[in-house]
This record gives sequence, C-alpha cells and structure tokens, in this order.
Amino acid sequence: MAELVLITGGAGFIGRYVARACLARGHRVRVIDSLIEQVHGSRAAPEGLDREVEMVVGDIRDTDVLSRALRGVDSVIHLAAEVGVGQSMYAVDRYVSVNDHGTAVLFQQLIDQPVRRVVVASSMSIYGEGLYRDADGRIIEDVVRVPRARPGDPWDPLDRQGRPLVPIPTPESKRPTLASVYALTKYVQERLTLTLTQAYGMEGVALRLWNAYGPGQALSNPYTGVLAIFASRLHNGQPPIIFEDGEQRRDFVHVEDVAEAFVLGLEHERAPGGVFNVGSGEDRSVSEVARLLASAMDRPIAPEIAGKARVGDIRHCIADISSITRELGFRPRKDFSRGLAELAEWVARQEARDRVQEARRELEARGLVA
Ligand SMILES: NC(=O)c1ccc[n+]([C@@H]2O[C@H](COP(=O)([O-])OP(=O)(O)OC[C@H]3O[C@@H](n4cnc5c(N)ncnc54)[C@H](O)[C@@H]3O)[C@@H](O)[C@H]2O)c1
Repeated sequence: MAELVLITGGAGFIGRYVARACLARGHRVRVIDSLIEQVHGSRAAPEGLDREVEMVVGDIRDTDVLSRALRGVDSVIHLAAEVGVGQSMYAVDRYVSVNDHGTAVLFQQLIDQPVRRVVVASSMSIYGEGLYRDADGRIIEDVVRVPRARPGDPWDPLDRQGRPLVPIPTPESKRPTLASVYALTKYVQERLTLTLTQAYGMEGVALRLWNAYGPGQALSNPYTGVLAIFASRLHNGQPPIIFEDGEQRRDFVHVEDVAEAFVLGLEHERAPGGVFNVGSGEDRSVSEVARLLASAMDRPIAPEIAGKARVGDIRHCIADISSITRELGFRPRKDFSRGLAELAEWVARQEARDRVQEARRELEARGLVA
C-alpha cells in the first residue's frame, strides 16, 4: 500500500536515505526539518534530498507548521532530534526541548490527526553499558561505568573480584541504563511513541540504532558520527582523536541498511508494538575503524589516543540483531570495507571544516572529559 509518509528531521543524514528508500517502495514523502546550523551549516535548502520529496522547512515544536505538515499523512517516521552524547551533557535545555518536547508536540497533534503508524528512531545509547559475561560465564546486565581511580587502571569494567568482563551482544530485553542526557531524551521519545500510539489506536515501532555511517553524514559536525568526525580530520591532514584507549567496541551499520530497517518498521505487519535493535551484527573497536578508514582514504595518519574519557560515554555496547532478523527479515547487506571505500570516495569530493578541537574545548571547559 502506497502511503504519504511524513519524515521529521528528514533532511538529515539518515532521513535522506530513508526518504529515498520510501520513494523506491512507491510511497510519497514529505519532510519537516528546521535545517539546524550544526548539521546543515548556513544552507537554506537541504543538500542531497530527492527532488520528489515535498519539503517543509520548520521546527517540529511549531504547532501550526507541524499541523499543516501532517495534513493527509498516512504514517510518520520520527527522526528530528539533536544528536550528540557529549554535547547533550551541557546543552541540556536544547536537547530536552527538541527531543522530548518536540516529540510531545508531535503526539499532541497526532491525537487530533491520527496516522496508521509511527516509527521512531531510538538509540543504542539507552542501554548504557551493553551486556557482559564474567570469567565464570555469568551474564552481567547491570554494569555501571565508574571513573577510573588512577591513570593506569583498566578502561574495561571489572567484576567484584577485579576480573575483566567481556562484552557480548546486547538484546532489546536488557534494562536501559540512561547514562547521558541524550540517552534519556531518546528513551523518552521511544516511550512516548509506544505509549501514545497504543492509547490512540495507532501502531508504534521503535528502532534502536547503533552507529550509522556512510556518505552524506555532516562532516563539519564534531558532535556526532564518529566515522564522519574521523573522516573530516583525516581529510584535513589531522589525526583522528580517539577517547580512552580506542579499544571500546561498537557496531557500525551502513546508512542504507538503516534505511531498509525503517522501511521494514513502516511496512511489516509484525513490527507494531515492537522495539528492535538495528546494527550490522559485527562489532569493531574504534581504533580499528580509525585505521581502516585512514587506509581507505589513503591518508596514513595514526590516530591520537586521548587517554581520557568523556562523561556520559559507555565503554562497550554491541548489537544483538536476532530479533529484527527473525521478526522482520532484516539482513544488513553492506560489507564494511565496501562501505568505507564508498565513504572515502565521497569525502574526497567534499570540503570539511574541522571543528573537533572546538568541541573538545567545550567539553574540557566544563570538566566533561577526565
Ligand atoms: N546517526 C546515528 O548513528 C544515530 C544513532 C542512533 C540514533 N540516531 C537517531 O536517528 C535520527 C536521525 O539521526 P541523523 O544521524 O540523521 O542526524 P542528523 O543530525 O543528520 O539529522 C537530524 C535532523 O533533524 C533536524 N532537526 C533538528 N531539530 C529539529 C527541530 N526542532 N525540528 C525539525 N527538525 C529538526 C536537523 O536539521 C537534521 O536535519 C535521530 O533521531 C538520532 O537520534 C542516529
């Protein structure tokens, strides 16, 4: 069934791919996006959005604009957000306002103008630390990160006997541990969506995304998208700066696969009411991806290991994607080295303002790096 789909924040990195994937499925797409400076610079119109997309420039917290944007819409994909763990720890009012008040305004409108389905972008950050296994094979769910007591202490979490814990894939059933303002706001977005869709006879789906990467991620935004940040540094002949020791593990999922997950979330009959992890199913250390990216970009520059942690960051969290695979038939297709090669080709054609030191100073000035 072809629908009119409203994508909030649809001019952003993931939104443009989701728009394209929806169009390819025969849907019509409308986007509402306020084109924030941190992502879009001073551009008055978004770059890279398909021509067939109907664009509404506006803030989701503006009731009048939002109400007009919702006219005739069958389903909503809700992506509009301020995105950045570190920044959320000091730009608290902005993050809570856009992410949570913004979602509240959206649902206030949806009560009067209900749609068939709402799919919201949640985040792996809501888990806090991922799931771990201890040396005796026990699964440990409630690891809470504590600052290192001494500079030489290990970064990895330890059990009560001081033995290292090993990260294992984290399923949706892990209890959330909200370690940053960003995580808190994403969890509120997710819960508002699931609670209110159910209360008002709509269908709700939440996708918990891991680290999305690919061409088109804002290179001059130093607050989000670790691969884009590294790419911007390398492109400018500078070493990527890696917090901690670089051995923290994540799942890097290509943005085309993320877009495919949103199409499944929108269309699949088994999606409603569900919360699904979206990752590639492969985990890598941040150091490893920095090295692989430098090689793909043909910039043999070793990363700078900061040896300090950002407040709100977690050590390891890797994705268990068996639920979305089983229930919705999700299959990540993009091979990581192919994805990096394409990213490198795209970056080579871009201009990227390196604002990493600026962002680092913001955190350091507030004591948010230790
Ligand atoms: N990129 C990732 O790795 C990742 C991981 C987990 C979750 N997510 C979530 O996915 C969604 C999309 O992320 P992205 O990487 O495309 O980020 P992005 O910053 O590229 O896109 C977000 C878009 O929202 C718009 N926006 C911000 N405030 C707005 C407002 N008040 N009204 C209207 N539009 C507004 C921005 O202009 C931007 O175009 C976000 O909800 C984010 O939290 C992303």
